[in-house]
Amino acid sequence: MAIAIRQLHPHFVGEVTGLDLRKPLTRQEAIDVEAAMDKYAVLVFHDQDITDEQQLAFALNFGERENARGGNVTKKEDYRLSSGLNDVSNLGKDGKPLPKDHRTHLFNLGNCLWHSDSSFRPIPAKFSLLSARVVNSKGGNTEFADMRAAYDALDDETKADIEDLICEHSLMYSRGSLGFLDYSDEEKEMFKPVLQRLVRTHPVHRRKSLYLSSHAGAVRGMSMPEGRLLLRDLTEHATQPEFVYVHRWKLHDLVMWDNRQTMHRVRRYDQSQPRDMRRATVAGTEPTVAQQAAE
Ligand code: OGA
Ligand code: MN
Repeated sequence: MAIAIRQLHPHFVGEVTGLDLRKPLTRQEAIDVEAAMDKYAVLVFHDQDITDEQQLAFALNFGERENARGGNVTKKEDYRLSSGLNDVSNLGKDGKPLPKDHRTHLFNLGNCLWHSDSSFRPIPAKFSLLSARVVNSKGGNTEFADMRAAYDALDDETKADIEDLICEHSLMYSRGSLGFLDYSDEEKEMFKPVLQRLVRTHPVHRRKSLYLSSHAGAVRGMSMPEGRLLLRDLTEHATQPEFVYVHRWKLHDLVMWDNRQTMHRVRRYDQSQPRDMRRATVAGTEPTVAQQAAE
């Protein structure tokens, strides 16, 4: 059966039917899904009751796996998942919701802020694939913003002003904005700021995107308040309802997104209830700061 796609939002997001993600993709199917990602930036698949291994195998059609190291404060021995997937649940190793004051839990609440995955890495993530294994009855929607449409809608003067700006991104900026401020020396070293362009160009279709993320906390050549105010204004612009798709999770949905042209956030939910979400992350291939300079 050939894949079929229905667009769910005026700017982006495709709902895909005709694929069983438990089975290996044919070469043509992998090409079709990647082309759909370039176009729609977010793809939604329903009724995909997959294992971690099947999820990872699907992700590896699109690049290499990104290593989770350096992206959280969870110690290796406390990992709930050993499959190579990122644990985006609110669960501990015992399978129960983490205590309200648990450090891992407090850190993970940062996913409620608008972000692009791994923008705190020198080479940030390409695709993320999130599978819903236990969903909440209330809250916990994930929202996506189309950063190409948001860029296009800027006036020409703003586009010219921001074209070559470089930002500093760090997990300490996003978490710090929520009041999570205590880090060990090892974490401080791990979370050292990295540089990212504010405007990036998609390698295939060449559309420009605003590359924003709550991890961005400074703009090169600007004072911190001036830089942060600019980032806030742009984020406010980019996350207006006209650019945002709200995903209401059903059990066994799989949603994949292109971090190069979208931002996302999870909405607050009752943290005493289990929410088991598992993410496969496809690594990016180049730093954004090298990008335009090479053209
Ligand atoms: C992620 C993320 C949001 C969610 O997986 O990268 O931000 O809905 N998750 O859990
Ligand atoms: Mn995320």
